[in-house]
Amino acid sequence: MTHTLDRTAPADRTALIRSAWRSAWDLGDVGALDELLSPAYVRRRGPGARVQDRDQFKESIRAVREAFPDLRTEIEDVVVDGDRYAIRWRSTGRHTGTFLGVPPTDRSVEVSGATFARFEDGAVAEEWVTFDSRQLLEALGIVTTLQRAAVDPDLVRGVHRKFITGVTVVTTDDAGTPKGLAVNAFSSISLDPPTVLVCVQHSSSTHPALHRASHLGISILAADQLDVAKTFATKGGDKFAAISWTPGGFGAPLIDGACAQLEVEIGERLEAGTHTVFTGRVVSARHDDLAPLVYSGGGFFDISRTAPLPW
Ligand SMILES: Cc1cc2nc3c(=O)[nH]c(=O)nc-3n(C[C@H](O)[C@H](O)[C@H](O)COP(=O)(O)O)c2cc1C
Repeated sequence: MTHTLDRTAPADRTALIRSAWRSAWDLGDVGALDELLSPAYVRRRGPGARVQDRDQFKESIRAVREAFPDLRTEIEDVVVDGDRYAIRWRSTGRHTGTFLGVPPTDRSVEVSGATFARFEDGAVAEEWVTFDSRQLLEALGIVTTLQRAAVDPDLVRGVHRKFITGVTVVTTDDAGTPKGLAVNAFSSISLDPPTVLVCVQHSSSTHPALHRASHLGISILAADQLDVAKTFATKGGDKFAAISWTPGGFGAPLIDGACAQLEVEIGERLEAGTHTVFTGRVVSARHDDLAPLVYSGGGFFDISRTAPLPW
């Protein structure tokens, strides 16, 4: 007896799902998905993630398989119910090609997740995918659970005192109220795209506002702004009352008289022990000829009074 595929029968749908997944994910035959997915297919991966169409999904499978050529995906459960299906899956593979910007680590990576889908006219029109992204990031070494450091904190403090920085005031507009603190943990990450980071301690009264905000301001203080540095290095209170400042084009308060100013659209908020690392894209910038205030070994210095070395 020959069996013709009945796209409405749960058993046939389950078989189709299993065979299309195996062909595409395990064998790299992404064309097999055309059997399962409608041409108008959309794949949703949660808020913030780009919605993929069928071709983009196939391309992403190719990219995953290039990074993990021995990829194996096990469907641990499939439930088909009317025009819906749900799958619980687990993928394993060795990371031998660049993935998410991470060069090959040769680590074995395991990721598990669930896919929920809707059939329309016998083909999958829409899928919602959730997976444990922390599991993936940990497996790739992008995030790690660190062991307690064995180095004496005073020794580390002494090391940090050898590092010379400027002083910035990191600010944000908290529903109409300006908030800010003095920060020397500021760094450029990249120029293209222009990306920077600042590290802010959880105990800062500005910290909660930075979690609510879409933008932050960074004012690099000028050599004659020691009083401003002290004001913003003092906890709480209305630090802006006695300070001259102006809202930037994106709403972040910027300190007048600073030698440089940036506004940053906040991207990631990375938890790192007692601090949060805020990264973001520079959306406005200005600087002038004023000398910056310098911080070193717990003291403040005027760089214009130092002698440049021949180089
Ligand atoms: C030169 C200097 C640099 C500082 N750098 C940082 C920093 O990078 N991150 C941070 O969280 N606090 C830093 N602080 C400490 C905060 O400015 C300080 O704790 C401030 O009182 C916090 O204010 P808030 O709690 O009202 O936000 C620095 C202080 C000084 C004097």
